[in-house]
Amino acid sequence: MPADQPYWDMVESTAKELSARYGYRRIETPIFEATELFVRGVGEATDIVSKEMFTFPDRGGRSLTLRPEGTAPIVRAYFDAGMQLEPQPARLFYIGPYFRAERPQRGRYHEFHQFGVEAIGDASPLLDVEVILLGWQWFSAIGLDGLQLQLNSIGDEVCRPAYRERLREYYRPHLQELSAESRARFERNPLRLFDSKEPQDQALKRQAPHIVDHLCAPCADAFAEVQGALSEAQVPFTLNPELVRGLDYYTRTVFEYQHRDLGGAQNALGGGGRYDGLAAELGYKATPGIGFALGMDRTVMLLKEHRELQVTHPDVYALAVEGEATPHIFHIAGQLRQSGLKVVVDPTGLRLETKLRNAAKQGARVSVLIGPDERQRGEVVVRDMRSKTQVSVPEGELLGIVARTLDSA
Ligand code: HAM
Repeated sequence: MPADQPYWDMVESTAKELSARYGYRRIETPIFEATELFVRGVGEATDIVSKEMFTFPDRGGRSLTLRPEGTAPIVRAYFDAGMQLEPQPARLFYIGPYFRAERPQRGRYHEFHQFGVEAIGDASPLLDVEVILLGWQWFSAIGLDGLQLQLNSIGDEVCRPAYRERLREYYRPHLQELSAESRARFERNPLRLFDSKEPQDQALKRQAPHIVDHLCAPCADAFAEVQGALSEAQVPFTLNPELVRGLDYYTRTVFEYQHRDLGGAQNALGGGGRYDGLAAELGYKATPGIGFALGMDRTVMLLKEHRELQVTHPDVYALAVEGEATPHIFHIAGQLRQSGLKVVVDPTGLRLETKLRNAAKQGARVSVLIGPDERQRGEVVVRDMRSKTQVSVPEGELLGIVARTLDSA
């Protein structure tokens, strides 16, 4: 809606400026892609793939999906465009619509928008810190505070399988006490047991072993490096050993930006992590990557409660007092616009008082009026909408007088 646009403009332009300052270049992938890309990339057993995709066959019988997220498509595009041959890492950012068929509620929509970044082609933990910092600075640059950064490591293919078994061993004697959803997760993806909000699962969850305590040495070292560099960059973070994220491609660092004013399950304003196994999962050469996506709709929703941004008002409201002068008022408006002013023309046959009232309602600072007398004398009336005073000036002097009135208004 128009009243929201100043917020969208601001968050988008901040995203573009900040990304450029970090050397990230914009990329946009297609709105829909082959379903297979998301099934393989995001993971068959995830909520996104199993319940939330808008999937449909095209006329050729191919299965297409409205993109539910950006990371798998960007890794595909990275290889399709040969970016692996350029200096690494490739630093990319994106702003656009995404689609998930979740039950809509406050802060959760079928069509939503993300600002995201992906840094592909390097495994350095310092790159994790760069990405986390970029996201953190975006929130502060747009003026949203009250944010909490949560951090965890979920290991890699070396240490995770053994941990997964350990977690199953812990839960196995208690399967009957678990909710139905958690029982399903026990089979498909036991790490997601930590995402359960069901009251009956909470006691068991509290005692469950955490993956951060079972990392292999390289994963543990990487995680220590991330924490050290974040502290040095003075980014406050909270370790959350239960943070596992709902997409299958993550390895090692995972993080979320949460906000206290977003209740319940929808408290993440954004999240991300490392996905060193994703490229191989999609059939490409194994290539590490790290990124985040930030929910712009949720961010704008909160920003509106915290900060007031004005819609832009016209500088000048141009109106003819009577019908015959109307074509000429378009001409005058054109001249004013050429000098860079925002000019709204009133083409209506309404009464003068009504037109002036509409000018005030739209927030115009100056009105320019022509009546039959002015038209005959080659003059125009310039009205200062704040002081409600007006002067009649020769048309040739209009620009100067309007500029002066705007300066004083
Ligand atoms: P995600 O956590 O699924 O991660 O989504 C990121 C953010 O998008 C969420 O924190 C939330 O703010 C917003 N979001 C998600 N679903 C909805 C919805 N239905 N309505 C409104 N906002 C929503 C990803 O998408 C990963 N691709 C992030 C990433 C990039 N990981 C590595 N690189």
